[in-house]
Amino acid sequence: MLIEKGYFADNMGQSIVLFGPPGAGKGTQADAIVGATGKPQVSTGDMLRAALAAGTPLGLEAKKYMEAGELVPDDVIIGLIEERMQQDDAGDGVLFDGFPRTVPQAEALAEIAEVSLVISIEVPDDEIVGRIVGRRMDPETGDIYHITFKPAPAEIAHRLIQRKDDNEEAVRTRLTAYHDQTSPLAKWYSEKGLLATVNGNQAMDDVGAEISAIIDA
Ligand code: AP5
Repeated sequence: MLIEKGYFADNMGQSIVLFGPPGAGKGTQADAIVGATGKPQVSTGDMLRAALAAGTPLGLEAKKYMEAGELVPDDVIIGLIEERMQQDDAGDGVLFDGFPRTVPQAEALAEIAEVSLVISIEVPDDEIVGRIVGRRMDPETGDIYHITFKPAPAEIAHRLIQRKDDNEEAVRTRLTAYHDQTSPLAKWYSEKGLLATVNGNQAMDDVGAEISAIIDA
């Protein structure tokens, strides 16, 4: 159920962007935002991984970029988002996770959807590698775990998987791509008065509480 007061009472039909470096905790925090706002999560990373698993031409094209930790070309990503935003559930706005990541993507998004809030989860680079290398995913539920910070229940431990790009070499390439191509968007959105920053370098629940305070304000 959509909340009836606070930020989103005045921002129905508008979208939110969840922004931050790889491993910042975007996927971890997305569920709670979806629950609080009723807006569906649109994760370009998840969409690309689904295309790859299905063996579609798009997935096969994206594979080499993703496994190397490089950004997939803008035209591919923008096409994917344009198609996704045609679906019925996108009509009240969505929660973008991992999109936009370049200025051309942000410019394309401005033509497709109205963004009312960009939540930037800030985490220093030296925290990122340990988070990414220790991440494990449950392929049945999509739930995200970490071998130290969020261990999975023992009964599902056998089925956990590690993403192919969750290795140290690819993470360092992803961080470079973030700093060169994505982080300039923070200034871009800040100048539009849309950016809210959150300290992502604290316990997951505390990050969630900061995000809730922004959403409920
Ligand atoms: P994508 O899937 O979007 O990956 P990403 O942005 O690199 O982000 P991650 O999913 O790695 O991290 P996250 O912030 O969601 O962190 P999480 O919550 O899992 O993209 C993958 C690839 O697809 C890209 O490299 C690119 O090739 C391509 N791509 C996707 N979108 C694109 C686009 N728009 N344009 C071009 N190319 C695109 O948390 C990480 C770990 O840390 C977990 O184990 C978690 O348990 C743990 N953790 C979370 N929060 C905390 C905390 N507070 N304290 C301790 N541990 C924590």
